[in-house]
Amino acid sequence: EKGGYKHFMAKEIAEQPAVLGDALRHYLGEEGTRIELPGDIDFSGVTRITMVACGTAYLACLTAKYWIERLAGLPVDVDVASEFRYREPPIPGGTLAVFVSQSGETADTLAALRYCAGRADRIVSVVNVAESSIARESDLALPILAGAEIGVASTKAFTCQLGVLALLALEAARQCGRLSPAALADHLTALRAMPGRFNAALALQDRIEALARRLAEVTDVLFLGRGAMYPLALEGALKLKEISYIHAEGYASGELKHGPIALVEKTVPVIVMAPHDRLFDKTVSNMQEVMARGGPVLLITDARGAAEAGSGVWETLVLPEAPELFAPMLYALPVQLLAYHTAVAKGTDVDQPRNLAKSVTVE
Ligand code: F6R
Repeated sequence: EKGGYKHFMAKEIAEQPAVLGDALRHYLGEEGTRIELPGDIDFSGVTRITMVACGTAYLACLTAKYWIERLAGLPVDVDVASEFRYREPPIPGGTLAVFVSQSGETADTLAALRYCAGRADRIVSVVNVAESSIARESDLALPILAGAEIGVASTKAFTCQLGVLALLALEAARQCGRLSPAALADHLTALRAMPGRFNAALALQDRIEALARRLAEVTDVLFLGRGAMYPLALEGALKLKEISYIHAEGYASGELKHGPIALVEKTVPVIVMAPHDRLFDKTVSNMQEVMARGGPVLLITDARGAAEAGSGVWETLVLPEAPELFAPMLYALPVQLLAYHTAVAKGTDVDQPRNLAKSVTVE
């Protein structure tokens, strides 16, 4: 059932072009020009969105915050469920509450949802398991249609969560009158092109495997990203530590000089995720600060970024160019592959990492 792959995680990484394509087609109809969310979600009375999840699903929410705020102009709060549920934050009228969970059974996320029931105007969940508790207890459940995810480390669920959250952001923007039909059509075209770009990212597999053999020898790794690449830096660190047991931290690039730069030395690789977007120059200058202190930099960028980054980086991985908005979905793939191949090089139990469970139904 691993379909010829050595691990479920490898299979699930490879499935992403297909499952994201299916998920987008499901919500965009055959022509792919209209967003058709079930239950006609109405943003007219919505003044803010609160998003709650755990782990990788939380990082999908953090990415979506950039999209929703930029596209729809609605303020978005994102919390980890275990903090949210005990903080018991005020939920003002006009709040749309969104819960994201692959399993739909995560105890803290479910408890946070129950806290919002009767307080938030509407409860929407983004789940992989359509018959799950979180789906059942929501006003509206949006399935991500990733198919069963067996590997404990979440991969295809993350990119499909991002796909559905991108559609939610675009629909909110449309209803808020912030997207012309032409602009929406452009975004949808760009989104539909993402699965094809995923294939180009998967084609980097051999290079990533070679890099991973080097990563397998270190004990600490830093990930840096700016803007919507910041949550991806966190995701890169989470994925690497969970399956390879290498200590990894993700930081917003701009936070580097506020502490983590003290860790930089030649034995600590710094993985910088920087597509050539409007924030590129800022991130490159952070990268140069790392290199000036002898830190080996692995730059993940696109062709323009690679051309402009200058010399001195340890290695560069070149991804296809992607629209700024949706680049985080694409950059998820090399990050997953790096974690996967590093874990394989170390000989860890990739699909069943120590101490972790696929579904965390106790708090
Ligand atoms: C990371 C991972 C976990 C889950 C988290 C939430 O690779 O798999 O961090 O993302 O336990 O699980 P769900 O999405 O089922 O609520």
